[in-house]
Amino acid sequence: MSLPKVYVGLPIQEAGLELLRGKVEFKIWKEDGPPSREVLFKELEGADGLISGLPFRVDGELMDVSPKLKVVSNYAVGYDNIDVPAATKRGILITNTPDVLTAATADLALLLILATARRAFEANEFMRSGKWKTWGPDLLVGMEVSGSTIGIIGMGKIGGAVARRAFGFGMKIIYYSEERRLDIEESCGAKFVSMEELLKESDIVTLHCLLNEQTRNMFGEAQFQMMKKTAIFINTARGAIVDQKALYKACSEKWIWAAGLDVYEAEPVPLDDPILKLTNVTTLPHIASASNVSRNGMARKAAINLLEALQGNRPPDLVNPEAWK
Ligand code: DGY
Repeated sequence: MSLPKVYVGLPIQEAGLELLRGKVEFKIWKEDGPPSREVLFKELEGADGLISGLPFRVDGELMDVSPKLKVVSNYAVGYDNIDVPAATKRGILITNTPDVLTAATADLALLLILATARRAFEANEFMRSGKWKTWGPDLLVGMEVSGSTIGIIGMGKIGGAVARRAFGFGMKIIYYSEERRLDIEESCGAKFVSMEELLKESDIVTLHCLLNEQTRNMFGEAQFQMMKKTAIFINTARGAIVDQKALYKACSEKWIWAAGLDVYEAEPVPLDDPILKLTNVTTLPHIASASNVSRNGMARKAAINLLEALQGNRPPDLVNPEAWK
């Protein structure tokens, strides 16, 4: 009997590929940048499964290339690159990779908070460009994180992990989320507040919600104007939750003090994007989950979810249970 045919649309780690060998016949995209639409259309012909990733969109048109397509296993926890309703309509299972990247993403949110508050990237640039003349009382003075108030928007797994780390740093935690998290309230003294109160009270505002139709462009001029002038804004969730022009205005016109970003409206960010010129904006190229442990875990999960679905089992990380009969 022939093995199911799978296309792996990005060069995932060997930890995932070794699980696929002998169980499916797969081809993998290994070039720089994402596969083009043309390549995807060709490779998906007759495919039973696809391992997808953030660099390319999976829509109904692509799904229709193979009437045999049973599963799209996304190598990411977020799945806004996939048209989930289109998949559900076609009975195609969609899966993601939660849990394995929670710690790495929360660590990176803390890194951005500390680096932005203490101007670490600006200081690095300052030193390497020969501007360091002497130790000085006013030299690169930043914001004290310990004792500050952090406002967490979205208290899911990653938001919770950020809260635990913030508690360790002596921050006061307030949060706004779809659901109360009594465990985090108890263990970290976190207080559930309205969005407005969070924006007005926080010294650090950090986003940890999924991108969907409710959260798209949720953060615009009105939200930045409500924040303290001394506050910093952190985004490790998705760029499209924020109106990036409003963010640029808020940072360049000093409505807020600074921002730390790992995600953007358009990725990769064009080099002439004015946001890259601001010294009060710390930027990273979407690497929150990029630790060895997390990426190997994501590769394994992507493979396991795919294999389970192809074997007719309910995959552990199914995001559209309505498609499961
Ligand atoms: C995700 O998993 O959604 C991240 O943004 C990439 O790891």
